[in-house]
Amino acid sequence: MSSHLWLPFTQMQNSDAPSRNFVRGEGNYLIDGNGHRLFDAVSSIWTTIHGHCHPYITERIVKQAATLDHSTLLGATNPVAEELASRLCALTDLEHAFFSGDGASAVEVALKIAIQYWQNVGQPRRTRFVRLASSYHGDTAAAMSVSDIEVFKSRFGDITFESVPYAQTAEVMHAPHVAAIIVEPLVQAAAGIRLVPRELYDMLREASDSDATAVQNRPHDDKPLLIVDEIATGFGRTGTMFATEQLGLNPDIMCVGKGLTGGTLALSATLTTSDIYEAFLGKR
Ligand SMILES: Cc1ncc(COP(=O)(O)O)c(C=O)c1O
Repeated sequence: MSSHLWLPFTQMQNSDAPSRNFVRGEGNYLIDGNGHRLFDAVSSIWTTIHGHCHPYITERIVKQAATLDHSTLLGATNPVAEELASRLCALTDLEHAFFSGDGASAVEVALKIAIQYWQNVGQPRRTRFVRLASSYHGDTAAAMSVSDIEVFKSRFGDITFESVPYAQTAEVMHAPHVAAIIVEPLVQAAAGIRLVPRELYDMLREASDSDATAVQNRPHDDKPLLIVDEIATGFGRTGTMFATEQLGLNPDIMCVGKGLTGGTLALSATLTTSDIYEAFLGKR
């Protein structure tokens, strides 16, 4: 019987997906229609960090859905969004959280914030992005543009832009046209759980160190912003709350998703410094 469901990154002709038809989740296990329990070794693609159907999370979702299911954040706020934003900032050295629905959107937001930040501080020529080799940041147009895995993006040259491969050189750090350097910290999940040599981040850490000693709310005028994509690595997956901590980086922008809700809700966040946030304050 043909299905109305179209699966992502799956050849639907003769697909064997029906042999993985899960009807229930329980801790580390997915249970199919025949009662077989399968160990979810990929945590449903690095997402279910608390296991499936965790009773505490389920209970809180039910309670919240019955209290306030949704209210727009366009010119309005709510106590739950406020609390989540401040708890995320407390986990990092960042000061503001912008919410989206999935990881790729959090990356789009990060890239757009970077572009607009430079416009706001009078450097509109900073429009290019530098990314690691074998990077993956999602499947929307700008996220694909800073990704480097051909199979995911090769058909979409017409709706993507060129990004610059990262090299540990002063030219990258001081290029006047670079808006931001985007990196996955420690592990590149989509590249095959590829461990990135720690030395590769040395130059970025040195740049962060000099930022940390500079006056707070420094004018960020001489080097690109650092965007760290913690969507796959965040919330303890590499042993620390964020992989960034192990690398000693001080990102200007951090993207989180996946483990943020453990897959129970579509939610991601783009966290920024107060320097960036304040550059957006004005009359309109
Ligand atoms: C590092 C990284 N960034 C971004 C994404 C995109 O997240 P999403 O699939 O929620 O759009 C992923 C997804 O695997 C990822 O691993």
